[in-house]
Amino acid sequence: MTEPTPILELDNVSYSYTKGGKKVLKNISHTFRTGEVYSITGPSGAGKTTMLSLISGLTSPTEGKVVYNGKDLAKQDRYDYRSHDIGVIFQSFNLLPQLTVAENIILSMDASGKTFDKPKKDIAVKLLEQVHLPAEYANERILHLSGGEQQRVAIARALSYDPKVVVADEPTGNLDMATQDDIMSIFRALAHDEDRCVIIVTHSPEVAAASDEVFELAPLRRRA
Ligand SMILES: Nc1ncnc2c1ncn2[C@@H]1O[C@H](COP(=O)(O)OP(=O)(O)OP(=O)(O)O)[C@@H](O)[C@H]1O
Ligand SMILES: [Mg+2]
Repeated sequence: MTEPTPILELDNVSYSYTKGGKKVLKNISHTFRTGEVYSITGPSGAGKTTMLSLISGLTSPTEGKVVYNGKDLAKQDRYDYRSHDIGVIFQSFNLLPQLTVAENIILSMDASGKTFDKPKKDIAVKLLEQVHLPAEYANERILHLSGGEQQRVAIARALSYDPKVVVADEPTGNLDMATQDDIMSIFRALAHDEDRCVIIVTHSPEVAAASDEVFELAPLRRRA
């Protein structure tokens, strides 16, 4: 295990949606390090998903900066960032149901434009092992998988191009306790054994307790 190193920083970030101009995040500053698992908590509507969109370069802050590896994201190629440096696990997985598990993972490798030192299918099978799915699942269609299994595939896909930062929106939302614990053990291994920075949005006190650090997002008070 190596020392936690700063990798991602929110520097006085605020965000308002253009539609309605409602300010969702206000003056958020936080440093995220590799080797650590972070939980972002807070009530519904506090801006957790919005914060993940900023971290993952899907949206730009209205004020302030998101800094990755010492560089302002606004001054980098955000497509490059999204397809190389950060792996995103969406709440609704966003897997392609008609394709197989391996095809879904390989699609994201292809999109990254990276070169791989092994056949992509072999890498996909190795990733399945990492998320505790049997190798036979590689050829199974997403359609035939349970919610918990799809969650694991979504994690495998997020890891496919070996990103330094992994973010997940409510990754244990609909899972039983044993599966939730197992998914958390996978996230902890990604941070502690592979030196990635893992950021999870969660409503679960157990997930928060199993993280290294909890960032609580308070809801903004509206002016009367
Ligand atoms: N595209 C959008 N346009 C306008 N307002 C939005 C948009 N997306 C979200 N919001 C508003 O921003 C606020 C924060 O939303 P966000 O999805 O970040 O909350 P959250 O903390 O993830 O909530 P939950 O726990 O319910 O997922 C909400 O009031 C929401 O209605
Ligand atoms: Mg949300």
